[in-house]
Amino acid sequence: MVCIICGFGQAPDQGMYLLRASIIDVGNNNFNFHRAKANYFAYGIDFTDSKATSRFSNGKNAADFLAEKLGLPSPKPYLSFINKADIDDELLKGVNYASGGAGILNSTYKGYCIPFDKQVNYFSEVVRVISRQIGPEKTEKHIGAKISLRIRRRRLQFDPEKYVSELINTLRQQFKDICNLGAHKFIIRSTGAQGRMPILRSKTETGACDEDANALAMLCNKKLASLMEELNSEYHNFCYSFFNMYNAYGGRN
Ligand SMILES: *[C@@H]1O[C@H](CO)[C@@H](O)[C@H](O)[C@H]1NC(C)=O
Repeated sequence: MVCIICGFGQAPDQGMYLLRASIIDVGNNNFNFHRAKANYFAYGIDFTDSKATSRFSNGKNAADFLAEKLGLPSPKPYLSFINKADIDDELLKGVNYASGGAGILNSTYKGYCIPFDKQVNYFSEVVRVISRQIGPEKTEKHIGAKISLRIRRRRLQFDPEKYVSELINTLRQQFKDICNLGAHKFIIRSTGAQGRMPILRSKTETGACDEDANALAMLCNKKLASLMEELNSEYHNFCYSFFNMYNAYGGRN
């Protein structure tokens, strides 16, 4: 997940911009895609009417909780704005671009979700619209962004070192694109112990963890941490915090 939060100033200039995957998707996948959807029981079971809201969650998700903590409304899905005549005021309140299934690469769940690169393009279009509306200086303040992200692995035959390098190289460019739009404060959430996911454990003979997946996750996290250091020294106003999800989920066996 990449989540960009902007504008901690006074209303009406605050908004939150969220990108990437299912943990913060509030319904984009419901608009265009037919398979990666969360619009049926038991999703949403803990919402007031027990209705599925297209969140991949029993109730509120990380985007909603984050918004709540900041005293903001949870931003609407980007695709809900399409074809609406007057969206300018809404855009300033924030936009959620996240799409369940999206990874760093276009090939991740291709056809099921909005790839990250496309989300960044959507974000840049919205930054342009906002800039026309409130001017470049205010826009820069408004987009003083925070980002967090998660890397997921792709299940294919591959060389782990090469694959992780490809992911990180792609991510480097995506970060630069986002930085060049004015974002510079980031919260990074690393990947967790993927080998502990039930779907992978069900494929091992004894139901044990998939150690290859865990090793890959650790490699990703190490390279992700180095990438953040690299970006930190390259961009003078870059700042970030790094949350190691692997350890938080008890990834150490
Ligand atoms: C994803 O596809 C777009 C459009 O074809 C392309 O511009 C972009 O470079 C691709 N991104 C990656 C990470 O391959």
